[in-house]
This record gives sequence, structure tokens and C-alpha cells, in this order.
Amino acid sequence: MDIRTQIDMTRLPRHVAIIMDGNGRWAKAHGQPRVFGHRNGVKSVREVTEAAAELGVQYLTLYAFSTENWGRPASEVNALMRLLVQTIRKEIKTLQDNQIRLQTIGDHSRLPAKTAQALLEAIEATRENTRMTLILALNYSAKWELTEATRRIARKVSSGHLDPDQITEQTIAEHLNTAGLPDPELLIRTSGETRISNFLLWQIAYAELVFTPVMWPDFRRPDFYQALLDFQHRERRFGKTSDQLSTQNV
Ligand code: FPP
Repeated sequence: MDIRTQIDMTRLPRHVAIIMDGNGRWAKAHGQPRVFGHRNGVKSVREVTEAAAELGVQYLTLYAFSTENWGRPASEVNALMRLLVQTIRKEIKTLQDNQIRLQTIGDHSRLPAKTAQALLEAIEATRENTRMTLILALNYSAKWELTEATRRIARKVSSGHLDPDQITEQTIAEHLNTAGLPDPELLIRTSGETRISNFLLWQIAYAELVFTPVMWPDFRRPDFYQALLDFQHRERRFGKTSDQLSTQNV
């Protein structure tokens, strides 16, 4: 049976986040340089983005470049940045045709000017699109994001605009890069690694985690559908008991 038909369309996660991992190992297994893996990873980005939009997922966040990725050889970092610019420029029409809005999270102050410019253009061009929001995490790390949020909150306190006793979870959420976005309900990591690696630490407090051995360049529609099915087979209790859930419809 087509795996897609097994998905309960009334219980889709509103927000799916993905740690795209395994490009380098996939390339090595094919006897190719690492950038070959990233290039094929772009095909997975395209396919998963389309699949998510078609199903009706409202937010899709992809971890494209972490703060720690600057530690890679300069040639790989440059190749990744070039690939990003090329992909964004090439896919802007697909984003428009599919009514997808592009957003980013992360520290863009260190991105090459060309990359930042291409991103700004695409964000601006797609800002009115309403079908799905695609969020690229670029030069992102959750500890950086939480540190920045803490600084901004502290400044408001020290300037007298915020009373420390009034700080709530909502205050913190509003100072994160993801302000205004619902928290991801499903986090997928490919390539068999079972770590979070500094990704959306605050936002995934209640997310279901799905780890798959599939390398990112091989991760295509059926793998995405399978992750959604895994999600739907889990019981999300939010700290409550199973009995409470069956009577309460949370
Ligand atoms: C992880 O594999 C992947 C990345 C660090 C980069 C992901 C980037 C892309 C798929 C291309 C550009 C993205 C967009 C959104 C256009 P790895 O290199 O860490 O693999 P390894 O763990 O096997 O070494």
C-alpha cells in the first residue's frame, strides 16, 4: 500500500524540524568529494519541501549550517555557501509557484555578503506566501540564540522597561529567533546519529524525536512519510497520563 495513504491528515504536525545529516558519509560511500553529498542533499531539500507543502505541514525548519560548521575546511564552507546562493536563486520560482514563504534563523552577521543578499531577496520576494513557511537555520545554534535572547531581556531589565518578576516562558519565547512560530512537534535527524547538536533546544521541549539511519541525500518522500507515520504512532502526553488523555482529548 502507498505509504502516503496511511498518514492521518487530521493529525499532521504543524511544524517539522529536520537535522539534515550524512551528506559527507554518503559522498564518501560513493567515492566522491563531500560537496557531491551536499549537492545531492539539495535534491532531498527540494523533495521534502514539496512533500511537506503538499500534505499541509505549515512550518518546515531545516538545519542547513550550524555555528560549529565554520570549523570545517574553508573549501567545504565556501562550497556550501555557493550552493546555498545557487539553490535559493534557482528555486525562488518553485517557492513562488508553491506559495512557500522563506524565512531564516541564525546569526547572519558572519555570512558572506552574497549569501546574505540572496537570502534577503528571497525572503522579501516570498513574504506574502501563505501555504507553508520554510525556515532555513543558517549559522544557527540554540545556545547562541538563548544567549542573545538573554542579553536582550537583560537590556530591557536594566533600562527599566521590564520587571524581572514579569519574565515568563512567553517572554523568553518572544526573544528567540523563532518568535511567532509554533514549536516543532516533530524533529527528524538523518544518518543514524542520535544527538540534538545545539538545535532548537528550547523549542523542542515536547517534540517527538525520529532518528533514521537514512543518509540525507537518500532521504526522499517515502522516508518523510515514514517519519510522519512514526510521529502519529506515538502517544503525545505532555506530562499527563494515558487515562487522562483518553477522556480529555488533548
Ligand atoms: C550535514 O551533512 C549537512 C550539512 C552540514 C549541510 C546541509 C546542506 C545542504 C543539504 C545543502 C544546502 C541546503 C539548502 C537548504 C539549499 P554532513 O556534511 O555533516 O555529513 P557527515 O556527517 O556525513 O560528514
